[in-house]
Amino acid sequence: MENQVRILGIAGSLRKGSYNRAALRAAQGLVPNGTVLTVFELDDIPLYNQDLDANMPKSVLDLKEKIRLAHAVLFVTPEYNYSIPGVLKNAIDWASRPRGGSSWDGKPAAIMGASQGMFGSARAQYHLRQTLVTLNMFTLNRPEVLISTAADKFDINGKLTDVKTQEKIRELLDALVKWTIKLR
Ligand code: FNR
Repeated sequence: MENQVRILGIAGSLRKGSYNRAALRAAQGLVPNGTVLTVFELDDIPLYNQDLDANMPKSVLDLKEKIRLAHAVLFVTPEYNYSIPGVLKNAIDWASRPRGGSSWDGKPAAIMGASQGMFGSARAQYHLRQTLVTLNMFTLNRPEVLISTAADKFDINGKLTDVKTQEKIRELLDALVKWTIKLR
């Protein structure tokens, strides 16, 4: 569909019971009409090796193609030691290569994240924002979605039950879609 907005969602956790993966699944049900949010799972992305820039693994080529087809990217990041997890940085690094062939260049982006602490991944989100600057991504400033004490916001099946968090995610997705259309 010509006017459909396609968002690619990437969560920076491989954990089966990941709150960030769960938040991304919840976001799929909260997108505005005419928007599709597709999830890319990072399980098959190997560790980055610059020797392979000219001969990238299939999973990385797949990631690069999915980014190319998306109008915008939604990053959902955990916080590991006040920064983003290696799995997320690793995937970002892969798709930024080869030199001159970054898949991220010029894409609108939004960030959200969940942590078990009080700050809801805030420090990781600001580190991620810094990385998106060098990738020349156009990252939405507001709203910030900081899902703190995540265990209280999801049920045991990983369903987001907290209504306020649902509203915040919906607000973020609405803003991302408007931002994406504005930048077209
Ligand atoms: C954490 N966690 C964590 N939480 C936080 O709020 N600030 C932090 O700096 C850290 N650091 C950190 C480091 C490492 C190595 C791990 C494994 C965990 C806890 C973290 O928020 C929690 O494990 C989340 O549940 C991780 O996200 P997923 O896997 O549930 O999406």
